[in-house]
Amino acid sequence: MKFKIKTAAPETQRTACVIAGVFLSNRLSTAAKRLDKACGGIISDILSGGDMAGETGDILTLYKLPNIACERVILIGCGSKRKFTDSIYRKIIGKSAKQLQKLGVNEAVSYLPELPLKDRDIAWKLRQAVISTADALYSFEQTKSKKKSPRKPLERLVLMVSREQDTAPGKQAVIQGMAIAAGQSLAKDLGNLPGNLCTPSYLAEQAKALAKEYHKLRANVMDEDEMQKLGMGALLSVSQGSDQPAKLITLEYKGTSKTAKPIVLVGKGITFDSGGISMKPALAMDEMKFDMCGAASVLGTVLACARMKLPIHLVGIIASAENMPGSRATKPGDIVTTMSGQTVEVLNTDAEGRLVLCDTLTYAERFKPSAVIDIATLTGACIIALGHHPSGLLSNDEALCKTLLAAGRNSGDQAWRLPLWDEYQDQLDSNFADMANIGGRSAGTITAACFLSRFTKKYGWAHLDIAGTAWHSGKQKGATGRPVPLLVHYLMDQALRT
Ligand code: BES
Ligand code: MN
Ligand code: ZN
Repeated sequence: MKFKIKTAAPETQRTACVIAGVFLSNRLSTAAKRLDKACGGIISDILSGGDMAGETGDILTLYKLPNIACERVILIGCGSKRKFTDSIYRKIIGKSAKQLQKLGVNEAVSYLPELPLKDRDIAWKLRQAVISTADALYSFEQTKSKKKSPRKPLERLVLMVSREQDTAPGKQAVIQGMAIAAGQSLAKDLGNLPGNLCTPSYLAEQAKALAKEYHKLRANVMDEDEMQKLGMGALLSVSQGSDQPAKLITLEYKGTSKTAKPIVLVGKGITFDSGGISMKPALAMDEMKFDMCGAASVLGTVLACARMKLPIHLVGIIASAENMPGSRATKPGDIVTTMSGQTVEVLNTDAEGRLVLCDTLTYAERFKPSAVIDIATLTGACIIALGHHPSGLLSNDEALCKTLLAAGRNSGDQAWRLPLWDEYQDQLDSNFADMANIGGRSAGTITAACFLSRFTKKYGWAHLDIAGTAWHSGKQKGATGRPVPLLVHYLMDQALRT
């Protein structure tokens, strides 16, 4: 799909559809006012008839209005003008995209980027418009035998700006938005693919395929023998019950010739989490195919950076394994030695994410990173603490934390910080090893991060627990592609700084 930027009056647009906003109590937006004037007040007449009030998400399609060049006008309710927020803006963009798809319209012109939004410039609004449109139109059909594509897919969306001088920065914003959307879509595709198809080896192939497509990317895949040689006893203890071999996948992006220390992203890539010997209950166990969404977000983020040619040095590392029971599987009480030399008593084989991550975090040291961010569907407790809106953020680095929280707010893909106080560390005490892999019922997200913190002392580090944000359950079941928008916004900030 193509996005275009233009400046022109709405009544002159010869197109299948023009989209304009209406605020509460039918206060017309600038574009809607112009359309109303051109057709002699028909729009305000219809609205005063009570067909729509301008509540957020209200939608009304009008056909063949006199003196208006387009075939249809879609009016979108934007709620109270004073309370118009980032999140409502994104919502109405998504809603209008879905309406276009439903109508089978293949091109449209949207005036929604003109709507006034406090503290947001036109570049922000255009970037978000592209991301939210792509997010709303995403569908996953790889595993259906019959594809149900829309009658006519939306092929061209023109985003209108009111000032000519906005077109140049607008084009840049569209490029960024498309790159982020592509990364998010890749993360969704990988997440949605089932565990029998999306295995550690499959993820490794995907990384290699990306490296083939973009010459600034380099992929490296480590097999179990090499991990053994490095002493990654924790990571290997997770895959040992499965027939699928573990893979440690590195995808490096060098977007700058400067010898800059890289930012390292570490993704949890458990392609299916049965819990192992500490097996999970059957209810919704299928959703544990999403336990590689951290890894998917790393691949998506690297793709987005390569696409927009961001001048940064980035290393993505994916710890991928399948967590299965079996006669060779790790048993509760087993003790493993990590690459760092610290020993771990595995009291619960379902706390496997931290086991694959800890060795990968030690491995990350060799890249001499300026910062390390790990992304993991790590704890069910994070959903209890924060629900499904923000990702959990825990960090040993104040500045990194602040920047990530800001990137979350700017992208609309938010995170919320939880404390990582030393007081919690005792919960990991073990009578037999240096530490246990679980810390009891209380503060499960924090004790999981405490576990990781013992492997991240050599660099600034942040941990994103995406258990509540990586996918939707129920009727809308599917990966969200989060936190790709947050991560890419963070990296765009870093690129500006150097
Ligand atoms: N992948 C799960 C976490 C998870 C569970 C994410 C449900 C989203 C929804 C992780 O490997 C896990 O099983 N964690 C355990 C840890 C516990 C054994 C300390 C959990 O959260 O129950
Ligand atoms: Mn688990
Ligand atoms: Zn897991």
